[in-house]
Amino acid sequence: MIRSRSKTEMLYCGTSLLLVTAALWTTGDGCWGTPGCQIVDLSHTLDTESIKLPFFPDFHFTVLTQGLQPGGFWLEYNKFDTPEHISTHMDAPVHFFKEGLKLHEIPIQRFMGPGVVIDVRGKVDRNVDYRLGVADILRWERIYGPIPDGAIVFMWSGWDVRYPNKTLTFNSNTIEDSRTWHFPGFHPAAMSWLVENRNISMIGVDTPSVDYGPSTNYETHQIMCKANILGLEIVNNLGLIPASGSFITALPIKLLNGSGGLTRVVAMFKN
Ligand SMILES: *[C@@H]1O[C@H](CO)[C@@H](O)[C@H](O)[C@H]1NC(C)=O
Ligand SMILES: *[C@@H]1O[C@H](CO)[C@@H](O)[C@H](O)[C@H]1NC(C)=O
Ligand SMILES: *[C@@H]1O[C@H](CO)[C@@H](O)[C@H](O)[C@H]1NC(C)=O
Repeated sequence: MIRSRSKTEMLYCGTSLLLVTAALWTTGDGCWGTPGCQIVDLSHTLDTESIKLPFFPDFHFTVLTQGLQPGGFWLEYNKFDTPEHISTHMDAPVHFFKEGLKLHEIPIQRFMGPGVVIDVRGKVDRNVDYRLGVADILRWERIYGPIPDGAIVFMWSGWDVRYPNKTLTFNSNTIEDSRTWHFPGFHPAAMSWLVENRNISMIGVDTPSVDYGPSTNYETHQIMCKANILGLEIVNNLGLIPASGSFITALPIKLLNGSGGLTRVVAMFKN
């Protein structure tokens, strides 16, 4: 990555260690083990209550062995059966684009990058079908500067407090009927703007879908996948990390031919 190369260059130039450390602090990456470094889990726990679209099959967890063995030692192992798109998970480009990368084909470098958190909670309070727009991105940039290369851009709607209540998450009493869903997402125009004007790696939402609830053609998904941008859905705890200055790692399972998969998302930043 360009940023880490410039750090190395700074070292070669003989810049003082203090300056290099300051550079690390401002970008938020690499603070592990230094005073004030915070690490926040942005994933939900995976279990039978986990949020998924209602037409996906159920998650099952089965205990295979659990107990003291004749040899005197404890032994425990289980199996689980899961749809790809459940709880905190990643959408691979092939999800909505036939020629797109499958989960196991995505270069590992794409899973890490600077975190951008765009707070749309005020807009969502007034309109549950709010879509994060270009104006929201520009407002963020006026305060924090241009969205950096390789960024992971989150919509923070405050939706995670509704989990795991499905009525509240889909904002509907008839969640089997997708025409009755109401929750926020990314506007397709905002997705296109990011593709055309910035060099991001991923977008993420704390709702069940990067498209808002009433969507029927999933346009944001289509634009995202065609542009080889990754998607994170059902992200947790966005209120615990700064709007700018975090470093995000989002590692999906390395599933052959996966269209998406369970993902552990972690934010690291200096307080
Ligand atoms: C986009 O960002 C990535 C990650 O920082 C970088 O490796 C790549 O060179 C950038 N591409 C362009 C066209 O600037
Ligand atoms: C989910 O929320 C609805 C609306 O507030 C409430 O009526 C229902 O009891 C909740 N369900 C569960 C399982 O907590
Ligand atoms: C994975 O996808 C490739 C290409 O479509 C196919 O040839 C292969 O059989 C698939 N493998 C499995 C295990 O499904």
